Amino acid sequence: MKAIQLAAPASLDNLALVDLPDPAVPGPGEIAVRLRASSLNYHDYAVVKGMLPTAENRIPMSDGAGEVTAVGEGVTEFKAGDLVVSTFFPDWIDGTPPEGGFQRVPGDGIDGYACEQAVGPATSWTHAPDGYNAAEAATLTCAGLTAWRALFVDGCVKPGDAVLVQGTGGVSVFALQFAKAAGATVIATSSSDDKLARLKQLGADHLINYKQVEAWGPKVLELTGGKGVDCVVEIGGPGTLDQSMMASRIGGHIALIGVLTGFAGPVQTAMLMAKNLRVQGLTVGSRAQQEEMIAAINANGIKPVLDKSFPLADLADAFRHQESGQHFGKIVVDI
Ligand SMILES: NC(=O)c1ccc[n+]([C@@H]2O[C@H](COP(=O)([O-])OP(=O)(O)OC[C@H]3O[C@@H](n4cnc5c(N)ncnc54)[C@H](OP(=O)(O)O)[C@@H]3O)[C@@H](O)[C@H]2O)c1
Repeated sequence: MKAIQLAAPASLDNLALVDLPDPAVPGPGEIAVRLRASSLNYHDYAVVKGMLPTAENRIPMSDGAGEVTAVGEGVTEFKAGDLVVSTFFPDWIDGTPPEGGFQRVPGDGIDGYACEQAVGPATSWTHAPDGYNAAEAATLTCAGLTAWRALFVDGCVKPGDAVLVQGTGGVSVFALQFAKAAGATVIATSSSDDKLARLKQLGADHLINYKQVEAWGPKVLELTGGKGVDCVVEIGGPGTLDQSMMASRIGGHIALIGVLTGFAGPVQTAMLMAKNLRVQGLTVGSRAQQEEMIAAINANGIKPVLDKSFPLADLADAFRHQESGQHFGKIVVDI
């Protein structure tokens, strides 16, 4: 089969299309999948750029979607022809997050889905939403589920709540779509007025250009009548957390997701305390949460916002497009 491997040292120039032996037939409890699409996440970018160390010749990409080609003994949940989507943590079925960080995450600790075929436990996959194609389904594994968990598993957003989303990447655009479907008011930020106009089309209620309004925390307070938002989908990290805390209501929830401004930095602990804030770190979600998200997608007819698509052989160019920051929503790979 064709696959992309990441040679050492990790860099976009060291992503190479190779021929590998086809995987074995599925054993008991396993399925074989002909992958048709993947999608890019910042996590995948961090791996291929060497920011997160990985093994030499790793097959990158955490997200995969395609059709089942064969099922092993005892598998009843899937049949040949089903469109399936991978889970970010192949062993995290339900309950509390697994130990071991990213050691078992495809495209990081183990081989990922920048390849034509995969064989593994049926429990590492779920059905795709109704009416989705593979590219759409492949956006859910990391970005979709992270936004879902931030809002509804940890953040407990309900109709009438106010939610802040930052920027126009994969997680944030999903968060906007999910929050609107749940009846929340959404305040969205971006560095680009053109992208803000697109966020408006997707239903954002209030828009802030974070380049023009650097102190956007107080602006969010103003937009919410001085109260602040119930939930922040925090994708920036140390460079945005202060503003997110300012933007939050007393007792609000901050879903601490991203590292776009760095991996560490000072925290205004007194503000956290004084505002009775809850900051919840999170890493994607479980298979059970993925199934709940897909049920909600089926009930509401939500479709992901796809940016550009690239053939597998041009994966490095797809990452260069992500690196440019021009994208809006999800960049996808056709396999
Ligand atoms: N913890 C988890 O489970 C988890 C899961 C998924 C992602 N993440 C993290 O979440 C972050 C976003 O991931 P992604 O895959 O959605 O990335 P992405 O698709 O590459 O999105 C990047 C976008 O973020 C926006 N951005 C960049 N710097 C910003 C800033 N200082 N303030 C506000 N927005 C900013 C930009 O939007 P504009 O062009 O509109 O300004 C940019 O286009 C990354 O740090 C990633 O590692 C974490």
